[in-house]
Amino acid sequence: MRHPILFDTDPGVDDAQAIAIALCHPELELLGLTTTYGNVDVEVATHNALLLAQLAGRADVPVAQGAAAPLVKTRHPPPAHIHGANGLGDIALPEVQGKADPRSAAQFIVDTVNARPGEVTLVAVGPLGNLAAALQLDPSLTERVKQVVIMGGSIREGGNVTPVAEANMFNDPHAASRVLTAGWPLTLVGLDATHRCVLTAEHMARIAAGQGDLGQVLAGSYAFYRDFYREFLDIDGCCPHDSCALAWLLRPELFTTARGHLTVVTEGDAEGQTLFAPAGRAFIEPRWARTPAITACLNADGPGVSDWIADVLAGAGPPA
Ligand code: RIB
Ligand code: CA
Repeated sequence: MRHPILFDTDPGVDDAQAIAIALCHPELELLGLTTTYGNVDVEVATHNALLLAQLAGRADVPVAQGAAAPLVKTRHPPPAHIHGANGLGDIALPEVQGKADPRSAAQFIVDTVNARPGEVTLVAVGPLGNLAAALQLDPSLTERVKQVVIMGGSIREGGNVTPVAEANMFNDPHAASRVLTAGWPLTLVGLDATHRCVLTAEHMARIAAGQGDLGQVLAGSYAFYRDFYREFLDIDGCCPHDSCALAWLLRPELFTTARGHLTVVTEGDAEGQTLFAPAGRAFIEPRWARTPAITACLNADGPGVSDWIADVLAGAGPPA
């Protein structure tokens, strides 16, 4: 079965790896890339999305630019020490030929989903302002998407930008709250799963060999990202966070999940924290079950996911 997907992203080194999968996997029909600020400014995110599609020989894939800032809170500067100031490890990049779609990311999402009701999966791997804006434009979108898969949040793992918050949730907790409680079929692929996965230098060597010009960009940016993991987290390799969302979509048996109700903390020291109340469990007040039930990943077969990513990208090069 082929999944028609829209991929919402802030590329970003690990975003770039995931985009490469979205562009080449035979079971995915990539309908477009929508961009947001996050790892970089939104203009840089759009540039990188256009470039990655071009390098994969897929300049036909539309790219629509979206959110430049959070809905409510003040924006933090982009994490150049993790992804590089250009989002791709500060390596020299080729010229981009194409241009973005004139529509906003939110309008593009609404148009694309409504053109194929019940078919489209939204995969979002950055701050969630574009999905929140799309819901604002057309609240009935919740009934017409097939499903929503989000890389973000943390149930038991703790945070990566604060002790309790994962980056995509922290960057725009108000948008995250709207999107995660909107009542559409949703799976959260958070740090509980992505921190189990490490993409090693051996994996990346295979990916570089399999992806032509795109492989050179993936490998160069990986080297920068790996330095961050080594220096700050004492890990030799890096967590392929955003690719895990696609791994969940195509290889769900590699993940352990649970149903439950999410609350996103929007203010205070815990902003961006995702609170998960397991379905069917009675807590002291009914309010913990007031949001629609979603699926959350609580664990993953890390080596299995990492090998899957490398196998996909090593085995499928850009079209001749
Ligand atoms: O916490 C991981 C997420 O934050 C990923 O989407 C990564 O690209 C960063 O933005
Ligand atoms: Ca991302």
